[in-house]
Amino acid sequence: MSDFKFLTGSEDWWRQAVVYQIYPRSFADSNGDGIGDIRGIISRVDYLKTLGIDAVWLSPHYPSALADGGYDVDDYRNVDPRLGTLEDFDEMIEQLHRNGIRVIVDIVPNHSGSNHVWFQEALRSPKGSPARDRYIFRDGKGENGEIRPSELVSHFGPTAWTRITEPDGTPGQWYMHLFAPEQPDFNWDNPEVREDFLETIRFWSDRGVDGYRIDVAHALTKNLANGHLPERTGYDLSLVKHDGSDDLFDRDEVHEIYKSWRKVFNEYNPPRMAVAEAWVHPERRPPYASTEELGQSFNFDMLGAGWNPARIKSIADYNLGEAKKQGTSTTWVLSNHDVIRHATRLGLPDDTDFFRWYSPNRFNPGVDEATGLARAKAMTQLLLALPGSTYLYQGEELGLQEHLTIPAEQMQDPQFFRNPDVGFSRDGCRVPLPWARSGSSLGFGPGGAHLPQPAWYVDYSVEAQSGQKGSTLELYRELLRMRSELVCAEEMAWVRHWFNKNVLHFKRPNGWQSITNFGSKPVKLPKGRLLVSSKPLVDGKLGANTTAWLK
Ligand code: NOJ
Repeated sequence: MSDFKFLTGSEDWWRQAVVYQIYPRSFADSNGDGIGDIRGIISRVDYLKTLGIDAVWLSPHYPSALADGGYDVDDYRNVDPRLGTLEDFDEMIEQLHRNGIRVIVDIVPNHSGSNHVWFQEALRSPKGSPARDRYIFRDGKGENGEIRPSELVSHFGPTAWTRITEPDGTPGQWYMHLFAPEQPDFNWDNPEVREDFLETIRFWSDRGVDGYRIDVAHALTKNLANGHLPERTGYDLSLVKHDGSDDLFDRDEVHEIYKSWRKVFNEYNPPRMAVAEAWVHPERRPPYASTEELGQSFNFDMLGAGWNPARIKSIADYNLGEAKKQGTSTTWVLSNHDVIRHATRLGLPDDTDFFRWYSPNRFNPGVDEATGLARAKAMTQLLLALPGSTYLYQGEELGLQEHLTIPAEQMQDPQFFRNPDVGFSRDGCRVPLPWARSGSSLGFGPGGAHLPQPAWYVDYSVEAQSGQKGSTLELYRELLRMRSELVCAEEMAWVRHWFNKNVLHFKRPNGWQSITNFGSKPVKLPKGRLLVSSKPLVDGKLGANTTAWLK
């Protein structure tokens, strides 16, 4: 197991870290089975080091039936055999630590996979048994229990209830799953469930894991008392109550759980960090991020900011202010494994409704890729200069666009299959990375790729971009190298450009400046030494869709 002798530095390493999300099954494949693995990650440690990140966050690496890309966990304290072994995992941590890179893993506490021993035991056990009480089993309505217990829909549609066959072969009870049927929700009122997750956190912390990303952190506790069952017709945040009394999400009691986790995190030196994936109303985010709980909570606001300077400024102000009040740092996110890549989003007209756009126009999406990529780079550069930590998603450093033409029969995302009318799939951002211009799966591995790579991936490959001035990859490398030298006290001040609303310009306490041109006309650069710009200057001025740093 790894020890910490390779890593030094403060306990607060995460406050302004650049965290790179690895979707392990699509990162690098060492054994040619088409699925990325831990040894694949080990083989790319040099790449990660050269990129200049502070930490990696691994999407789930656990044994899983892959009904939801690994977010259906069958064993929380093991490694998926397709990804490797615990020994490989230990070696990966050691190699990353040796190279100054910390490791964050995903914890999925709202639901397990349906092959988890506890769920299998529940299926074999009678109604009312302690094994069933670890999940949410209920009788159906109707004469023979044939009608589902409530009208609750699943996040992936259509229903959140699935009926089981009892051990004697008769149709039986129903269980709740906010996501796919292969993801039964835990009953967090059950003390055994609570205890088991504490053990899981200890298990990985003992192996040297530095932090945790908590999946659907706001959903664990539900209003199930006195026979009550949640009903819900959709997962729009506007349906969630603001006062902590919603039936499903962001209930006040959830915070007791994270307080107990914090005690465990603090048993370690340095204390383990955690970041909540909690899609809650912005004003309800602070407790998740408090020092008594997880410490950090994803702020996804920039995902919806578009290319709109006023919106971006107000999101920055709000989140920096809130983080300060809580004594924590905020998080900036433009892409992850659940959303359309930002190089594509920003190539669409502002205010596009992505779900509606995706569906009817799937094969004629009208993306202005060049503009999208330019804006994506400029946005990333802007966010990297703000106080707080930045979460990058694998492949964005290559400027990858969303793969929009995956044939239906090759899709894997349950959201695609369970919502045939919408047709929305997250697979387009989960395609295995292109490392080389040629060869089997473009260097992803010696075999194929579990999702098809489009032909245009060749030009985006690491090989095609490495050492190429002006490439997206070299820009990211330069930005991260400079950022590590520039990063300073968590303060910033806007510099007003009264006559140009299309400019966002701010300064950090050490004189580091970032300026972005959201308009179409080139803008004069402020005083200072130009450090790096996301696109070459136009006659010495900052052109459209460009960010520059100066000092
Ligand atoms: C959020 C994860 O990011 C997503 O990929 C997953 O489908 C759901 N949680 C359910 O675990």
